[in-house]
Amino acid sequence: MTAKKVYIESYGCQMNFSDSEIVLSVLSEDGYTQSSTPELADLIFLNTCSIRDKAEQTIRKRLQSLNHLKTKKKGLKIGVLGCMAERLKDKLILEEKMVDMVVGPDAYRELPELIRALDRSSQATSINTQLSLEETYGDITPVRRDDQITAFTTIMRGCDNMCSFCVVPFTRGRERSRAPESIVKEVQTLWEMGYKEVTLLGQNVDSYLWFGGGPKKRFKALSELEKISAMSFADLLELVSLSVPEMRIRFSTSNPQDMTTDVLHTIAKHPNICNYIHLPVQSGSNRILNLMNRGYTRERYLDLIGEIRSIIPTCAISHDIIAGFPTETEADHHDTLSLMEEVVYSFGYMFKYSERPGTPAHKKLKDDIPDETKQRRLQEIIRLQSTHSLSRNLNLVETVHEVLIEGRSKRSENHWQGRTSEGNVVIFEKKPGTHIGDKLPIKITSASSATLLGITLEPLNTKVSTVVENLSIGTKYGA
Ligand code: 5AD
Ligand code: SF4
Repeated sequence: MTAKKVYIESYGCQMNFSDSEIVLSVLSEDGYTQSSTPELADLIFLNTCSIRDKAEQTIRKRLQSLNHLKTKKKGLKIGVLGCMAERLKDKLILEEKMVDMVVGPDAYRELPELIRALDRSSQATSINTQLSLEETYGDITPVRRDDQITAFTTIMRGCDNMCSFCVVPFTRGRERSRAPESIVKEVQTLWEMGYKEVTLLGQNVDSYLWFGGGPKKRFKALSELEKISAMSFADLLELVSLSVPEMRIRFSTSNPQDMTTDVLHTIAKHPNICNYIHLPVQSGSNRILNLMNRGYTRERYLDLIGEIRSIIPTCAISHDIIAGFPTETEADHHDTLSLMEEVVYSFGYMFKYSERPGTPAHKKLKDDIPDETKQRRLQEIIRLQSTHSLSRNLNLVETVHEVLIEGRSKRSENHWQGRTSEGNVVIFEKKPGTHIGDKLPIKITSASSATLLGITLEPLNTKVSTVVENLSIGTKYGA
């Protein structure tokens, strides 16, 4: 009998893409092979996102079009995984009649059993949306693509922060950290496989906490646990950095309410930890931050930015901002724009507020900002970010950076595309003898708001730190 084929499509955050690799691993243990197209598959999974209504609508449309394949292929089964599965549970099967299987983010080990239950009867449906306090999939080796040099490793799951707009605490459950040994082992294996960069993933990486005996509940003060040796995110970052000294390390997402100065010192100390922090702010207004239950003020956030700039002067910082949160006034919106002017972020991810059923904001606040106003405010935020990205990028012209080649430029066969430690995309002409995965010294020659152009310095093994003295590396900004 030929092996059954599974096709997975992932939506939303990096965690979902990483989870799909775990799903593939569980299913390959059960004899499945991966299909590159839905048409050739016996089983189709969409790993879904619920963060905004638009994401869910996109997935519904995709499910409708995939359902047509059932008329052509008898026995084809379609399942929904991830956040939408967790949020809507059996509604997707009973009311919307969209799918045969609904499996939440903590139930992927059960997939083979759930599939067998489906196979037993043509009428059957399978569902498991049980959330767990312990599941980290720490012992499962994700199935990676073999044509990449960058990978993701999950270090913790869930979120306990309860920001009022956010569905994640409901769809991904309570925070829990993965054992450091299994993280280090996975990262070392990635290095041996030829990967050159790893991003440590979690909804709130700064809350990473591991105790000798196993993942325990989070305690407010570490002093309460004097007798138990605990590993914080800063400790983990250092451990990973030392165990793969030539590999680039990134992490996401940091939250201002949980980030500590030790993490900044760890980044500054280890050259292989990238100088880039994604630090969502969501709003520049204290009144809105309070309604969002973010646990920090504008002033505290700006202090943290000041600390980052003094400890890691060349660090790039990016944000997430939501436009049009309930009750947001023009004055609140201007507070957001003025905070952006103070920080001058390198990059940003900007969204219109989308009400999510069941969240505290949905229960307590009316979604009262008209769509045109949300749209206009969003456009103002995007426009401002674009001028800031351009000015940051122009400041990098004439500086020299170590650039990791990620692949061919999308526009030209004769050019490479790579990234600086700060996360800027750089395009430069290919030199003979250079390959994907090489780190090269690149001098930036020109910039747009999205991309830098550069030239390769010779010799190719020039250490960027030696060039710094002559050309002043990226220190022109942040002053
Ligand atoms: N509406 C709009 N944006 C949201 N985000 C999270 N929930 C919502 C929502 N209900 C954004 C936040 C978060 C990012 C991942 O998505 O900015 O940081
Ligand atoms: Fe959602 Fe806030 Fe947790 Fe981020 S920190 S996942 S925004 S609840």
